[in-house]
Amino acid sequence: MKPLIAPSILSVDFTQLGQEIKDVEAAGADMIHVDVMDGHFVPNISYGPIIVEAVRRVTQLPIDVHLMIENPERYIDDFARAGADMISVHAETCPHLNRTLHQIKEADCRAGAVLNPATPLNALDWVLDIVDYILIMSVNPGFGGQAFIPNSLGRIRKLRKTLQRRELTVQIQIDGGVNSKTAPSIIDAGADILVAGSAIFGRGDYSLAIQAIRK
Ligand code: DX5
Ligand code: ZN
Repeated sequence: MKPLIAPSILSVDFTQLGQEIKDVEAAGADMIHVDVMDGHFVPNISYGPIIVEAVRRVTQLPIDVHLMIENPERYIDDFARAGADMISVHAETCPHLNRTLHQIKEADCRAGAVLNPATPLNALDWVLDIVDYILIMSVNPGFGGQAFIPNSLGRIRKLRKTLQRRELTVQIQIDGGVNSKTAPSIIDAGADILVAGSAIFGRGDYSLAIQAIRK
């Protein structure tokens, strides 16, 4: 199956946010990835629901909100109201992950669970039947433009096998260091959704950049 491409707006020119979204949509993006960072769970601070609201006004594409924040359960309804279609939370920030994933679904969003590069895959064993997608981080979250961590490929493969064995239709998303060089082995390992920031925005032609990742 053709992998879905989710450009991350962390790397846009924020003076041109609306135009950047329209350009990447015209270039064939499948969804818009919004990275929310709180300066606590990750070292960087980014933006919150008002940016999701702004993105909602300029595109029909699904908005995929990646919450890199402590106590994400406090903000899920705000992001859903702002226009999010998909919301993912880190297992590392959720002592009541089962409850938090249900909360996302009750807010009418698709629910994702995220794992940092050092978190064991089996942290999600008991929520695999609840999630709509799993995001495997292939960098330590916080910044765009970092190098892909190679052992993420083994993690995708292993997760793919587990999902097949349990006959679950959960999508696998990968985030961090995705570019035209790393994408082929990521797709081969079994990822369904590829998030990419610096490999798309800041490039001259978004359509070529997306095609180079997809093929
Ligand atoms: C990293 C974010 C990513 C980031 C990816 O913490 O979750 O979505 O924007 O950036 P690139 O594609 O440049 O590695
Ligand atoms: Zn992200």
